[in-house]
Amino acid sequence: MEQSDSDIVFQSYGRCCNNEEFFKDFYDRFMGSSADIRNLFANTDMKAQRHLLRNGIMQLVLYSRGMSDTKLRALGKSHDRTGYNIRPEWYRLWLDALIATLRQHDSAFSPEIEAAWNRAITPGIDIIRQAY
Ligand code: HEM
Repeated sequence: MEQSDSDIVFQSYGRCCNNEEFFKDFYDRFMGSSADIRNLFANTDMKAQRHLLRNGIMQLVLYSRGMSDTKLRALGKSHDRTGYNIRPEWYRLWLDALIATLRQHDSAFSPEIEAAWNRAITPGIDIIRQAY
């Protein structure tokens, strides 16, 4: 039977998300992509942040599996111009850093898996980004 994008992504994330190094490498990459982004996390407890992101990515994956958008709308609120003030164009850097880190850590990574991630989580990212 054909696997859906969300099945492929769920399994791919399962191969990565129990490894703390995955989240360390993600933030090294993401913060390395712009000084503005690095500055946003200057006073952040990164160990706690890695755990929060582990859950945040899971929310994107669950939304692609049909879960309600309530949690993503709350993230949209915390990231909007009255919150962390995360500019909409920064989400492209976030997704690029995520895909590069998946390529590094998912032993089964392939162009098909990359395409499935892009299709599956873009709608959830759009909810957070468009709340700006
Ligand atoms: C906090 C997820 C994109 C910067 C958080 C939290 C989560 C999260 C779960 C902690 C909960 C909260 O404070 O609401 C995500 C997800 C993203 C995303 C799933 C992708 C769609 C971004 C981007 C940036 C960013 C693009 C910056 C360019 C921050 C900052 C915090 C934060 C500055 C607060 C850190 C602190 O407490 O010091 N994010 N985020 N996020 N995020 Fe994001």
